[in-house]
Amino acid sequence: MPLIRLDKFISERTEFSRSEIKNLVGRKRVTVDGQVVKNSDLKINPDTAKVFVDDNEIRSERFRYILLNKPAGYVCSTSDNDGANVMELIPENLRTKNMFPAGRLDKDSLGALLITDDGDLAHRMLSPKRHVSKIYIVKLDRPFKIEYINLFKNGLKLASGEVCLPAEVRGSELSEKLAFIQIFEGKYHQVKRMFSAVGNHVEVLMRISLGNLILPEKLAFGECMELLHKDVENLFLTPDFDDFCRNFTGNFSAKLINNGS
Ligand code: URA
Repeated sequence: MPLIRLDKFISERTEFSRSEIKNLVGRKRVTVDGQVVKNSDLKINPDTAKVFVDDNEIRSERFRYILLNKPAGYVCSTSDNDGANVMELIPENLRTKNMFPAGRLDKDSLGALLITDDGDLAHRMLSPKRHVSKIYIVKLDRPFKIEYINLFKNGLKLASGEVCLPAEVRGSELSEKLAFIQIFEGKYHQVKRMFSAVGNHVEVLMRISLGNLILPEKLAFGECMELLHKDVENLFLTPDFDDFCRNFTGNFSAKLINNGS
C-alpha cells in the first residue's frame, strides 16, 4: 500500500479541511502510532497507522459517496437480473464492491441519486424517523393549480388511503406545467401518486436535492461525481423551500420541458 499524506488521510475521512488539520497538528492534537505529529504532510501507511485526533480514532476504512445524475431507463438495483441498472454508470475507478443505491428513483425518473458503500449512512438517510428533505421538479400533464399548495401542506390522502406527511409544492414561473415539490418521506411512487390524488399526472420527474445536497447543473444525465465526507453531512440539512425554488436556475427545467433529454 503506497504511503499517503496524513492531512489527506484525515480530510478524506472526516469533516476537517486540510488547513484545519494543519491547525490541529500545530496544537498537538493529532497523534500517529502514539506519537504527537509535528507536520501535517507526514507520510503514513493508511492501512496500519493508528491515527487519533484528540481521543477519536480516525479509522482507515474509507467509505465512498457518489452522486449520480440518474438518466431514465436505469433501475436502482445492484442486480444484473433487473435490466440496465444504475451501478453500470459508475466508472470502475469510483466503484467498490459493497456499493449500492441509497434510496430509489423509478426507472423513468431522473436526477440525484446517492450511491455508497456506507450502510450506516444509508440507513440514517432512509430512516422514516429522519424526515430527510427531497426536492423534485416535475413536468405535469395539466397546469399546476394554486390550490395544490394547501392540499399538499395539509397531508394529502392518496388513492390507496395512505396519508402523506405535510409537503411543500410551488408552480414554476417558467411553465404552468412545471412544479417543485419537497417531501420528507419516501413512499412507493410517492410524488406521482400525490399529483394523481389531485387529478394531475406526472410526465417527467427529476430529483434535484437530497437534504441540502443539490444536484450541480454541470452534472449531465448519466454522469456522477465523488462527494467529500463533509458534503455528505448536507444530506441531513433541510433547505428552505421558497429560497430553493427562487434560486433554482432554468437549465434543468429546460431539460425537463424537453422530456429529460
Ligand atoms: N416519487 C415518485 O413517484 N417516483 C420517484 O422516482 C421518486 C419519488
